[in-house]
Amino acid sequence: MSRRKLAAGNWKMNGLTAQLDEVRALAAAHPAPSVGVLLCPPATLLAPMAQALRGSAVTLGGQDCHAAAKGAHTGDISAAMLADAGATHVILGHSERRADHGEGNAEVAAKVRAAWAQGLIAVVCLGETEGQRDAGETLAVIGAQLAGSLPDGATADNTVIAYEPVWAIGTGRTPDGGQIAEVHAFLRKNAPDPAMMLLYGGSVNPTNASDIFAIADVDGALVGGASLKAADFGQIVTALEQA
Ligand code: PGA
Repeated sequence: MSRRKLAAGNWKMNGLTAQLDEVRALAAAHPAPSVGVLLCPPATLLAPMAQALRGSAVTLGGQDCHAAAKGAHTGDISAAMLADAGATHVILGHSERRADHGEGNAEVAAKVRAAWAQGLIAVVCLGETEGQRDAGETLAVIGAQLAGSLPDGATADNTVIAYEPVWAIGTGRTPDGGQIAEVHAFLRKNAPDPAMMLLYGGSVNPTNASDIFAIADVDGALVGGASLKAADFGQIVTALEQA
């Protein structure tokens, strides 16, 4: 079976109801995309975005969920709540969660199990810091994150992996093609299911998307800043369709 492709947008802590117009524009410009298109807005926008996207091919995801099914966790959100609001996916283990909230691999794995229990597809993020790359530790770090963040039972149907070098996120810097190819080849070889979709993330934009999508074992992208504007993200979707 050939692998599928996915253009995923991570809005992070950006987006108010006024931005739903961007989403309507994206859906109108791509009524029948030949690749998966996923938007992960802040949780407050999931339900209204699901409403705005009714009938379109664009799917929705959360940006995090709690490992517990429910309970006394003020300010947190459960996988069931995301699914109830219209999400089919959830980003887990993003480097900003790992850095800002001290999330380690075991916690990420627990969240992945919680997501699966609600039928959500986990988009699990991995990536080295610049210091780790400079120290020659990239593949060791990725290997440890892969082994620690994916619970037993991860398959191409319930999990997507996003390789996101921390130093490339929001910086306008991207690894060279060989560096991306090396990590993706490693992930292809070591992922629990070789059919798992492997996304690249970190400063993907309409200008560099085609080159990145031409790299072996890159099945799509997780896009932050360039996913906020329909015109930019639409170009990335088109680049993936043409890859
Ligand atoms: P960026 O973010 O595209 O703005 O670099 C990517 C991400 O963090 O998912």
